[in-house]
Amino acid sequence: MYPPFRLALGAVTAAVLTSTIAIRAQQARGEAPPAQPMSPAELELQRAMRTINSDKPALRAALTDPANADVPKVKAEIAALKAAYTSAESFFKDQKADDAVGWAGDALKLVATIEAAASSAPPNWDEIRAASPKFSPICSRCHTARREQLSDGSYRFKARDSRAEYDSYLAAVRAAAMRGDAEALGALVTADHVAVTGATGATVRGRAAQIASDTIAFGQMQIESFEMHATSFRSDGALMYAAGTGTHVSSDRSTGRKETDSFQYVDVLIRERNGHWRSQYFMNAPMPR
Ligand code: HEC
Repeated sequence: MYPPFRLALGAVTAAVLTSTIAIRAQQARGEAPPAQPMSPAELELQRAMRTINSDKPALRAALTDPANADVPKVKAEIAALKAAYTSAESFFKDQKADDAVGWAGDALKLVATIEAAASSAPPNWDEIRAASPKFSPICSRCHTARREQLSDGSYRFKARDSRAEYDSYLAAVRAAAMRGDAEALGALVTADHVAVTGATGATVRGRAAQIASDTIAFGQMQIESFEMHATSFRSDGALMYAAGTGTHVSSDRSTGRKETDSFQYVDVLIRERNGHWRSQYFMNAPMPR
């Protein structure tokens, strides 16, 4: 007999559950998650970035032709830049993104330099000219670490490394499995989750069916040890996928017999509107013997 427990895939007693699964599958259809809208704070960051990125015509003209500089306009452009970086800095402070707070601070120091140079009489255009190219490496550093592009081409603040998100998801899966907590496992999958096991070809559709099948499995056996390792990982915006291997040891509650289950898997997760990462597709197959 194929061992009953298949994490997040409930190959268990598929026959018993067939009707539940069919009903849930119908309910789950058409529940694909919509793209997350930006929060008000994110919209403000976007406005700040667009200001930072905008052309500064008076400043540009002053650097090419200092004799005809429109100094009040130049000062207004610098003030807008300062306000934008200050707003970005406070966004990153709220997010506790210390690295980004640091880069926003570096940019603000440069802004202070050009602000002082523009305010001296006469303005020190050479100093502004020398400071200007120093912004761009700061932009790149912060964008590399803290900006991500979604598949629709738009940009978002990257709250945390997605690999760290995946590892904490795996830790939650492990903790729930070790406790035999089918509800907690269910909370880690989407409502329309689909799990397939290559060992039997059994498919479980929907969170409710998943919970029902894991509840039966945990009634029959207990997880003694649990390991899953991603050997391959990729993410893009609200999507991430991992492929890897796992080993579970379970013991039968009535006979005490232990079984080791070694498998290879693919797991596809999506970030839902509330920011939670959940598994939408999970497929596994036994390791070759
Ligand atoms: C401290 C971090 C940080 C710094 C410094 C920074 N950015 Fe950004 N930038 C971000 C983040 C995060 C996003 C994604 C959020 C967004 O697009 O609203 C972003 C988005 C953008 C966007 C896309 C805006 C949009 O339409 O969504 C542009 C353009 C941009 N930055 C330009 C710049 C330029 C140019 C600089 C330097 C002169 C710069 N940024 C400096 C963090 C930073």
